[in-house]
Amino acid sequence: MRSSDIVITPFTDAVFSINLPYVKFGLESTRDVGYEAKRLGMKHALVVIDPRLERSEAAKVVLAALQAEDISHETLTMVRVEPEDTAVMSAFRAIEQKSVDGFVSIGGGSTIDTAKMLNLLVSSSGELLDYVNPPIGRGKSPSVPLKPHIAVPTTAGTGSESTSVAILDITRIKVKSGISHRYLRPDVAIIDPLNTLTLPPMVTASSGLDVLNHAIESFTGRPYSAQQKVAHPSQRPVYAGSTPVGDIFAMQSIQWVEQYLRRAVSQPFDVEARYYMMLGASVAGIGFGHAGVHIPHAMGYPIAGMVREWAPRNYDFGYPISPHGISTAIPAAYVFRHLAQFDIERFRQVAMALNISGDTVRSLRENLFDYYLSLLKTLGIPTTLRELGFTAQDIPKLVEGTLAQQRLIGLAPTEVTEDQLARLFDEAIVGA
Ligand SMILES: [Fe+2]
Repeated sequence: MRSSDIVITPFTDAVFSINLPYVKFGLESTRDVGYEAKRLGMKHALVVIDPRLERSEAAKVVLAALQAEDISHETLTMVRVEPEDTAVMSAFRAIEQKSVDGFVSIGGGSTIDTAKMLNLLVSSSGELLDYVNPPIGRGKSPSVPLKPHIAVPTTAGTGSESTSVAILDITRIKVKSGISHRYLRPDVAIIDPLNTLTLPPMVTASSGLDVLNHAIESFTGRPYSAQQKVAHPSQRPVYAGSTPVGDIFAMQSIQWVEQYLRRAVSQPFDVEARYYMMLGASVAGIGFGHAGVHIPHAMGYPIAGMVREWAPRNYDFGYPISPHGISTAIPAAYVFRHLAQFDIERFRQVAMALNISGDTVRSLRENLFDYYLSLLKTLGIPTTLRELGFTAQDIPKLVEGTLAQQRLIGLAPTEVTEDQLARLFDEAIVGA
């Protein structure tokens, strides 16, 4: 426990929730979808599916399992991989007259998030922007609990199946933002490592780095005891900051990623590596479901929103894309080196989980930085934003886009100013 954890004054709120999703984990657990859907009372499900997975084994197993329980279904595929507010609203218009009584999502975080948002719109009235986090949206809470949702993740990354948040692109201002409310958490997460065996190496690498960032950011975030007091329990945020319970999940996840990510990328059919990466992703999701994430994710959103020409191998969609895991992992190396000086004990624990040593604050920070860069290189991922096409001229807009993520910035272990963000972007562009 940090000394800051036990400083309880009338000005702070030291209440946190323990949020544990219902997860069914294991090889061939996908077959349980029908049983779970029936148990949740579904008769007519909307199956939201990643367009690349329509003919996948995972989809076949899910649809057969629903059929075996006499649950009828319609499928919906989204055109773009990352959900946009306008696309989600038009998908909602297409289904709002249908009598859907539950959702099944099959895909990565974007697909699961799309299902969460459609469920929100189908169950509760209003427009998407009513629910998006302020200042971009109005931060409204759903008026009623949502319809049942079973999430079947096919990447080991976002942890979306375990969380109460959905991320989307706000097209009007080219920024990513989120909707957070505990009703958004899927009722069941069916996590089957076999569904990740065909993931291309770069998708495995990007989503695996997202797991690592979830774990490190949630472990090093501002402690829950530093929350502002609220006037009413309904005002308590979904993310309380790092908690003794969230920490357990984050720490275990860091160790699994260190042990298995490289293997999962270089040997796609290494079932053991896939197994622990999938478990690590979900466990990290539980960790950040308590704590939230902070600066690397806040910087990652404008990076993803502003990338102009670049796309990594295995992401040949015909448009530029900096995948979420890559967008957060590149700045992370520079951010963690900066933040470690403010809470060296926490970062020492992170370093130990990554098998990194360092006797002094300076050597620990540099060793952590070197670890991150060498991990990115091993996985074939750029170590600078320059390689993604960013230049110093982009810094003001990148900083502006980061500052728009106030909810995330508020979870950082120390205050990060506009000037510091500009310096961090500069370092990440030139690789200094
Ligand atoms: Fe993430």
